[in-house]
Amino acid sequence: MADGHDAPLIMGIAGFGTVASGLMHILRENRAEIEARTGRTVRVKSVLVRDLSKTRACPLPDGARLTRDASDLLEDPEIDVVVELIGGTRTAGDIVRRALSAGKHVVTANKALLAEQGKDIFALAAEKKLHLGYEASVCGAIPIIRTLREALAGDRIESVLGILNGTSNFILSEMSDKGMDFAAALKEAQSLGYAEADPVLDIDGRDAAHKLYLLIRLAWGAEYPYSAMPICGITGVSPTDIRYAREFGCRIKLIAYARLHGKDPWNGGIEAGVCPALVHESFLLARVEGAYNAVRAEGNAAGSVFLHGKGAGDLPTGSSVAADILDIAKGTPPDNSGFAHPHLPAPARIIAPHESFSPYYLRLKVADRPGVLRDMAAVLADHAISLAQVVQKDDAAEPVPEAESRAVPLIMVTHRAPEDGVSKAVDALAASPFVHEKPVRFRVLTSKTGALPNLRTKV
Ligand code: NAP
Ligand code: HSE
Repeated sequence: MADGHDAPLIMGIAGFGTVASGLMHILRENRAEIEARTGRTVRVKSVLVRDLSKTRACPLPDGARLTRDASDLLEDPEIDVVVELIGGTRTAGDIVRRALSAGKHVVTANKALLAEQGKDIFALAAEKKLHLGYEASVCGAIPIIRTLREALAGDRIESVLGILNGTSNFILSEMSDKGMDFAAALKEAQSLGYAEADPVLDIDGRDAAHKLYLLIRLAWGAEYPYSAMPICGITGVSPTDIRYAREFGCRIKLIAYARLHGKDPWNGGIEAGVCPALVHESFLLARVEGAYNAVRAEGNAAGSVFLHGKGAGDLPTGSSVAADILDIAKGTPPDNSGFAHPHLPAPARIIAPHESFSPYYLRLKVADRPGVLRDMAAVLADHAISLAQVVQKDDAAEPVPEAESRAVPLIMVTHRAPEDGVSKAVDALAASPFVHEKPVRFRVLTSKTGALPNLRTKV
């Protein structure tokens, strides 16, 4: 392994797909800038793949060889850094652990691995005093890891909230703006290299939750077990709701949110989750389009910091991988967690659904007959939910076969209500004879003060 800082930094890259190709392009194209910044050359020695015969998106770096044997990276004493870009958790976890155990720094874009096995992997990196770089694993090109770990290190972070998944934002944007259907938009996101190998992770919200786990760790130095996070993806977002949301002056976005209750995560707690939400046009987040991501971090001194950039794709993600490699090349001491104690204290207190308040958008299809509005309001009142707006869409009325009445869409926005109360009320409404379809509900994003945005009532 090279020791002097003038010696080249030697890397083994596991994977030669979208992100690895982006990284290789950057290392070639920006060689002069990288050498000027680090005073060293950065060289790729081995690249691990499954299929040696596949045509690749870019040429293999000069002097590098392709291999199917991970030992060529992990047992080569000349290799300083293993860059893990294969994805998944089994083989990738094995490679990352073996690399750290062999005394090699690791850079990865693998948020699934770090969310599911991060506790042990971070501990191993700390024990070995090695870099575990993961800037690329959250929001592609956006430097949110560095921002929370370094730029906002003097703040108490009050909340972190954003659009953390490029694929689902791309799908929602295409559905909203071009009327494209869900399946076609997903196919396009896959062909553009945004989606995970298993795109279900993107659309069911788990990819955003993996990233949120990492941001919570950096913001508060606390574990929030990934398995405890409430997660809902975008498969239930229909063109009908996109249209009604728009008439209220809102867009529907997949939002990942984490909020500190009280002054610390153990006595106070952390409220976190991933879900589709109505975002009013007056919020910057409503204007984040396509595969772009954005994060809003709120510090008690800095106030609101908003970062926006490309959340997925070869070069944007490769750019963050390259930045971690440069840290290692410069000899920056490892600081993977951002906290002095490498082993994070006990898990945060998790804020329960009855402590989590939000306004909600509800859409019901109800029988169009006298008394329905009264009965529906009674169900909501039984669960202490008060209404801010109610709109009945007569123009969308449909005849109900073998019934005395037609069915009409009823769209409501509630005032702030506890999540468990809304769940129970929705279940009760679903069981009511005057409700014809499973009710739809989404949170409505509020400002920091919790105030409901000024919704347009063109609906
Ligand atoms: P990808 O295009 O599917 O590429 C994966 C590469 O890994 C392929 O070259 C594949 O080899 C290789 N590979 C997979 N399993 C392997 C195994 N068991 N042994 C050896 N090689 C194996 O994936 P990607 O989009 O670049 O994503 C890589 C990682 O970056 C993932 O963790 C992903 O979550 C993360 N990430 C991706 C993006 C993005 O925009 N794509 C953004 C941020 C983070 P073959 O080519 O020979 O099949
Ligand atoms: N599949 C991920 C996304 C890649 O769409 O956001 C970036 O992490």
